Amino acid sequence: MTEKKPTRKNLRVEAEAAFEEHRRISRMMCDLEQWLDEPADCARTWSECLREQLDPLLRILGPHFEGEEASPLYKEVPDEFPRFAPSLDRLFEEHQRILGDLRGILEEATATTVPVRAQIRELTLRTKMIVFTLRRHESEENEILQQAYWDDLAAGD
Ligand SMILES: [Fe+2]
Repeated sequence: MTEKKPTRKNLRVEAEAAFEEHRRISRMMCDLEQWLDEPADCARTWSECLREQLDPLLRILGPHFEGEEASPLYKEVPDEFPRFAPSLDRLFEEHQRILGDLRGILEEATATTVPVRAQIRELTLRTKMIVFTLRRHESEENEILQQAYWDDLAAGD
């Protein structure tokens, strides 16, 4: 059985949904950064509050990354535009690293009931670095989608 090739219109609809999911993840990252900068209003321990921030993000990121790796949006891209293939390979390899780093931080934070101030500072810094990486990562994906489904296909409309 031959797989049916998605139409350009369908791919654009999927690309819109991908942008929307990136916006949703971006909002979660903003909330996380805000909390990292001002964790004062947290009534429980810092670790518990960090878990409250990271759990929902991890729950979304896992399926989000899996969805991207299986999506026709990205599968079609290297066929039609081979110049994007190396970037996509690199971005997809980064998925597991981002998840692993976030899980590692959460594990470390919750390994001790109340982490000392220096440990909180270090974990805060590391979490911020992952947020930075994730923002850059999603922005690179957006850039590829933009070029593949708007700029490059504009002539085909
Ligand atoms: Fe993404």
